[in-house]
Amino acid sequence: MANNFEYFSPTRVVFGKETEKQTGKLIREYGGSRVLVLYGGKSAVRSGLLDLVKESLKEEELYFQELGGIVPNPHLDKVYEGIEIGKNEGIDFLLAVGGGSVIDTAKAIAYGLGEPEKDVWELYEHTRKARKCLPVASVLTIAAAGSETSRSSVITNEKTLEKRAYDDNLARPKFAIMNPEFTKTLPDYQTESGCTDIMMHTIERYFTNGGNMEITDALAEGLLRTVMENAKILHTEPDNYDARAEIMWAGSLAHNDLTGCGNDGGDFMSHKLEHELGGMFDVTHGAGLAAIWPSWARYVYKYCLPRFVKYAKNVMGVTSGGSDEETALLGIKAMEEFYHSIGMPVNLKELGIHPTEEQIREMAEGCLKASGSSTGSAKKLDLQDMIRIYQMAN
Ligand code: NZQ
Ligand code: ZN
Repeated sequence: MANNFEYFSPTRVVFGKETEKQTGKLIREYGGSRVLVLYGGKSAVRSGLLDLVKESLKEEELYFQELGGIVPNPHLDKVYEGIEIGKNEGIDFLLAVGGGSVIDTAKAIAYGLGEPEKDVWELYEHTRKARKCLPVASVLTIAAAGSETSRSSVITNEKTLEKRAYDDNLARPKFAIMNPEFTKTLPDYQTESGCTDIMMHTIERYFTNGGNMEITDALAEGLLRTVMENAKILHTEPDNYDARAEIMWAGSLAHNDLTGCGNDGGDFMSHKLEHELGGMFDVTHGAGLAAIWPSWARYVYKYCLPRFVKYAKNVMGVTSGGSDEETALLGIKAMEEFYHSIGMPVNLKELGIHPTEEQIREMAEGCLKASGSSTGSAKKLDLQDMIRIYQMAN
């Protein structure tokens, strides 16, 4: 049966070639006049995108300051730095030129400037909720996290190695500019980690034990098949514009909640288990998900068998005439083969890390703490379950 739901995806998407030229005009339209432009390492500088964006801001005579150097698994210190600049410069609009890490930092700074008297990290510790947030928008350079339309922001406290998410509609971006051309410079590992993350945002919403709708499943299955097909194309043809476009749009649709309407909010334990890996070992998010998911799936599939069977048949094309359990396991195996075909790991060794038993316990305890009462839908996980999944993946 379909659960009640609310679908709220207010972000204006401006998609296609040369759309970055509209950045300044759009910021004006959404009331921005003093802009903080955020970016990561040097990829947006090298590609020329940052210059194009700045030109567009100048055309609209917008005042702006820049803050670069945001790293993947972005740090809290950078957020505080951005908040300081924002206060001193009277910033009223945050523009991220980059991927999930840059957009999530922009959201965190926007929360910080919305309530400047409070410590923004409290949101990520879930000790209070945000009341105000400045407007955020992005010029996206990597199809992956879906932050360009999502309500999430994920920040790592580099002192405690805690990687934590805060979700709130207040930070849904005003607009997202997506020109697939600018994703052609991505290294293959980042492209494929991105494709994995996109699939996982849909998979997390698919493997649930509560509330389902045919239309939602059909959208999810179509999205997953399309991402697999185009991820394979990009593995050998990184310059294929159409494949880049398919993946880029899929990235937003996978995480703007469309593929979860009518279910119980999703499982999301693979993500929570991965965030601990990101905090402790600084791994690439999508690759970390690929390394965890097969172990999670083999651990929980019996508790969510009809969904695993449906997935095996409708997404992975399994045609075995065997039992439901056999079909489900073949589906998981086919998924591993797919990950390998695009150069993704399927366990922690292939990811290049080998946590000790002590580190596994520490990650499981962190995961339990960060999860609160939301510890899964396919199967609710307790501490021992989490330890077991990390051990299986190790
Ligand atoms: O820093 P630069 O030089 O830009 O290089 C980046 C970075 O090294 C590079 N890159 C990005 N666009 C490029 C490019 N290189 C060449 N050409 C381009 N066009 O890619 C690397 C990764 O960038 P990052 O922003 O970290 O990637 P992604 O979008 O995968 O974001 C990952 C972060 O988002 C979080 C993850 O946990 C992780 O911290 N997530 C955020 C979510 C959200 N806000 O809704 C949901 C996700 O589940 C996820 O947890
Ligand atoms: Zn993700």
